[in-house]
Amino acid sequence: MKLSLFLSIFLLIFSNCSSKNEKAIQPQIIPLPHSQNIIEGNFILSKETAIIGGYELKDVTNYLNNFITNDLNIKSTSKEAKNGIHLLIDTTIKNDEEYHLLIDKKKILLKSKTAKGAFYGVQTLLQLLPIANTSKSISIQCLEIKDKPQFSYRGMHLDVGRHFFPVNFIKKYIDILSRLKINTFHWHLTEDQGWRIEIKKYPKLQEIAAYRNETLIGHYNDQPHKFDGKKYGGYYSQKEIKEIVKYASDRFIDIIPEIEMPGHSQAAIAAYPELGCTGDSVKVATKWGGFKEIYCPKETTFAFLEDVIDEVVELFPSKYIHIGGDEAPKTNWKNSKYCQELIKSKNLKDEHGLQSYFISRMAKYINSKGKQIIGWDEILEGGLAPNATVMSWRGTKGAIEAVKQKHHVILTPMSHCYFDYYQSENEKEPLAIGGYLPLEKVYSFNPIPKELNEEEAKYVLGAQGNIWTEYIKTSDKLEYMAFPRVIALAEATWTKSSLKNYTDFKHRLIHFQNRLDALNINYANHLYEINGKILTVKDSIKYQLSANTSGKQIHYTTDNSEPTSTSSIYSLPIPVNKSSTIKAASFDNSKKISTIHSVSIYKHKALGKKITLNNSPHKSYNAGGKEALINGISGSNERYGDKEWLGFWGKDLIITIDLGSSLEVNSISTRFYNANGQWIYAPKKIEITFDENFSSKETINAFNNNLLVEFKKQFKNKKVRFITLKIPNYGYIPEGKQGAGNKVWTFIDEIVID
Ligand code: ACM
Repeated sequence: MKLSLFLSIFLLIFSNCSSKNEKAIQPQIIPLPHSQNIIEGNFILSKETAIIGGYELKDVTNYLNNFITNDLNIKSTSKEAKNGIHLLIDTTIKNDEEYHLLIDKKKILLKSKTAKGAFYGVQTLLQLLPIANTSKSISIQCLEIKDKPQFSYRGMHLDVGRHFFPVNFIKKYIDILSRLKINTFHWHLTEDQGWRIEIKKYPKLQEIAAYRNETLIGHYNDQPHKFDGKKYGGYYSQKEIKEIVKYASDRFIDIIPEIEMPGHSQAAIAAYPELGCTGDSVKVATKWGGFKEIYCPKETTFAFLEDVIDEVVELFPSKYIHIGGDEAPKTNWKNSKYCQELIKSKNLKDEHGLQSYFISRMAKYINSKGKQIIGWDEILEGGLAPNATVMSWRGTKGAIEAVKQKHHVILTPMSHCYFDYYQSENEKEPLAIGGYLPLEKVYSFNPIPKELNEEEAKYVLGAQGNIWTEYIKTSDKLEYMAFPRVIALAEATWTKSSLKNYTDFKHRLIHFQNRLDALNINYANHLYEINGKILTVKDSIKYQLSANTSGKQIHYTTDNSEPTSTSSIYSLPIPVNKSSTIKAASFDNSKKISTIHSVSIYKHKALGKKITLNNSPHKSYNAGGKEALINGISGSNERYGDKEWLGFWGKDLIITIDLGSSLEVNSISTRFYNANGQWIYAPKKIEITFDENFSSKETINAFNNNLLVEFKKQFKNKKVRFITLKIPNYGYIPEGKQGAGNKVWTFIDEIVID
């Protein structure tokens, strides 16, 4: 009793003491620092706090001072102060981006080797301060942080070719990137659908290439294609570009301009047809996808591109120029007498050799300007130019190959870095290109491919998120697609992978959302979204629910009504005794804080039975595992990237279902996805075998380019236990179609046995 009385008095005194000062914000820093130790006590920031930085750090010191004065309404002093924030250069610190931040009761000391390191220290300090303030003083938690990045390249890309974004938005984007310690902005400036950089020597790039006559409405997969009939376009003047480069440089962001070659060049060829191989007049592209236009490797074309580079290098101080190199269609080169003769006279192997010649020649020119090139992983085809850096986007294979050749690489694989993909499986998500890339998957990304050893891993400069804007027209939507995935990538590139923890990250992100609100960023929030999964234990089928983040209540219904805070509370998997629709959402007391998860489960004879496949689905499209084919749940009608659709690249399929005992079967149905623009083709045939005593060969008709191809076969009272479906892959993409010559994907979802 005595002890507890003593404790109560102690706590009373203690809490009285600390209540005099406002409570300091507990550190929730993103990206998570390399090391961080909390020290007891607070530093009090007030008008008697001096902010002092040496000459080399005057800009960073002003940046901090402006924030404290303007955002926090505290006018600090420059001398005779009670306490101080000191920014110092410390040449014993090794890494240019490293900083040491010590906050004790008397002072804040921020040491770094460079102004860039100081800027990152200031970003960390800002996250320890409130977003807004009305009091006379602010308490800051005492702590010590020693921080440095894991990767030297931490990038975000933006495609302004498909859609154009105004100067003010580009600045807003750069500003938030810098707050996350991202250090590179890859500005994709030229495309088939628009040329966006002013080149003074070639006025038609501004008059013609910067504008298209109209734009595709809806998704490329929607047939027939419809257009809006409205002229669209714009470009950045050199004056605006200089202003943006300066703005970025003030925030220690390097801008890498991308001038695409030899493909993705239709807009430039529309302005100057002589740059192409056919001389035909073409228009700036009005829809998405690949086009056959390609720069012709003539002396006049190289002269044009060299002139463009001359103006580009004057605008961008970056060490790198990105020359694209991706998806360059070779048809026009194959059909050109000039190109074929060039291949012979230069002793090149084929059109890939010609692409390599093209890129190497431009690389040499760019090198002569004191710059290096970056190219998409296609620049490996036919041989890499000396000192070229490879951006690996078609998976990590390009990165591995380039590293083996001792070239630097930047990882941007579609599977983890394409923020134009859907981030939720909810059907109500705004239209995206396809795919599925949730926040957790971005967070889990390790830029070092596991195939590389420690020595080879040194060639990995870092990683980058890409934002292609075919389906992103407005800056609001761009923010929705980018955030919070950019934030996850910032941590995946800055923080040592052994320190990463997704649960901890989510809690810091909830806190960080207040900062995004203050910056007026339209971020997506799927933190409390519901996921569901079929569970089969012996013959009983249940549906399990979970939220992306735990800690809030889930309510659900099974009668197709909308769940409310008075609907059943979820605690255990829900028994599925008959076909039914389950709807669920997360609630914070009575407030719904997620979208509604809705699933229709169809009870058929194969549900929960045994299934075997001869080939595993591709690792990017196997989210539901093979059981997803017989879990009673159909995939999305609009998206192949959800966890119900399984994708196989170029593989024939043999699927066997064991019903456990002989059952009467009256029909078999399934569905194939058929998005030819995404290289997905429904197969042409399917062979069904029952217990090795019955077999039926069926053809599948993909009528009218339908996105979904349904297959159904009826039987009369067949008794069967083992059902085998043989489904040969469609083959290669036909000439004239997007991705011609490549292997196709087979996407299949629920196999319904009735
Ligand atoms: C790319 O996504 N074509 C690099």
